[in-house]
Amino acid sequence: MLIKGVRLYGEGDPVDILVRDGVIAEIGPWLDAASTQELTRQEMTLEIIDADGQIALPGFVDLHTHLREPGREDTETIATGSAAAALGGYTAVFAMANTDPVADNAVIVEHVWRRGREVGLVDVHPVGAVTVGLKGEKLAELGTMARSQAGVRVFSDDGHCVSDPLIMRRALEYTKALDGVIAQHAEEPRLTVDAQAHEGERAARLGLAGWPAAAEESIVARDCLLAKQTGARLHVCHVSTAGTVDVLRWAKERGTKVSAEVTPHHLLLTDERLATYDPVNKVNPPLRTESDVQVLREALAEGVVDCVATDHAPHAPQDKDCEWSAARPGMLGLQTALSIVVETLVRPGLLDWRGVARVMSEKPAEIAGLPDQGRPLAVGEPATLTLVDPHATWTVRGSELASIAGNTPFEGMELPGVVRTTMLRGRVTVSEGKVQS
Ligand code: DOR
Ligand code: ZN
Repeated sequence: MLIKGVRLYGEGDPVDILVRDGVIAEIGPWLDAASTQELTRQEMTLEIIDADGQIALPGFVDLHTHLREPGREDTETIATGSAAAALGGYTAVFAMANTDPVADNAVIVEHVWRRGREVGLVDVHPVGAVTVGLKGEKLAELGTMARSQAGVRVFSDDGHCVSDPLIMRRALEYTKALDGVIAQHAEEPRLTVDAQAHEGERAARLGLAGWPAAAEESIVARDCLLAKQTGARLHVCHVSTAGTVDVLRWAKERGTKVSAEVTPHHLLLTDERLATYDPVNKVNPPLRTESDVQVLREALAEGVVDCVATDHAPHAPQDKDCEWSAARPGMLGLQTALSIVVETLVRPGLLDWRGVARVMSEKPAEIAGLPDQGRPLAVGEPATLTLVDPHATWTVRGSELASIAGNTPFEGMELPGVVRTTMLRGRVTVSEGKVQS
């Protein structure tokens, strides 16, 4: 396969990439002549991908995806979620544990892992629950999940906070021994009883119970102290406030092994969206203020927040098209993530395409310890990559996305950056914006 006329990381002159046996075999200008000759000798046909004007990036890695299988296959399955991921330029996703039944044991994580392999569009890595049933009371069998075929290394009770400090301490100690990481949904539950929206002027005016910034920041601070003391690795899910960025900066400066992610929706949307009362905007943690958004963008560009993760959260119409307080929190994210990053960071000049590769691919792969994702685009490396048209735009339509659910807050928006091709170890999973199953 020959990819023609692409700019690696959006830098330098266009080159051609020759892919052979799932690996990048050659990179250089005008590859056809020599390589075609060799291929003709081998009586093979050369498949050509015309990528004129496009940018090649390592395939994206999402540390935070809700695939809803098992249990809520009416909203998303491992197959439909994998398709959405591939269309978004992803080559690996981490499937959160809050399924029904919960992924808190080897049987469930192996099922998710195996189903992901069968579908084969992206590498599906199950996240293991930290506590049994996400109840926060008793540690799940982390070691058994780690030693299972799924080889779980990321553990999270996402949707719930591991709020008991002793359980969190033990979880950090065990995952350190397993060479894993705890991904914490930071939300002090005593501060968010009945919370519906960011605690501030807008929620007050609408009479919605507030979700204070300190509920996130206090848990992040506590967990950073525990991570430092245990020497374990902590990952902070969906950072949403400027105060959390301050805590992360402080913790990193004193050598804490902490990493953090921000979602595309927290990089673009604010609690101004509350005005319509449309639950498509309900998410946990909630949309915050304009100044939080600005600080999150800068923190991601600077590296205090390490990466982007989608928190892709499909929900059925009956769980979203209802009154605000009854609606479930969550938004689709896999197919819009890159475009939101281009809109909020690349266009304003905060991040170049090298930076996009860092926050969408290299850093998340490193945090999760994936050896064959987020690799450099270089000869001998796996052909796991995505080709992006940086100039094209598209209009988001929830009904046209690959997910079964349609709850996108970006409905009708025209966004920059279109994924044309996604390739997983040389296998084309998306071609001209269509899934190749
Ligand atoms: O908005 C959210 N939705 N936040 C979470 O933590 C969980 C997620 C879900 O599972 O729907
Ligand atoms: Zn969460």
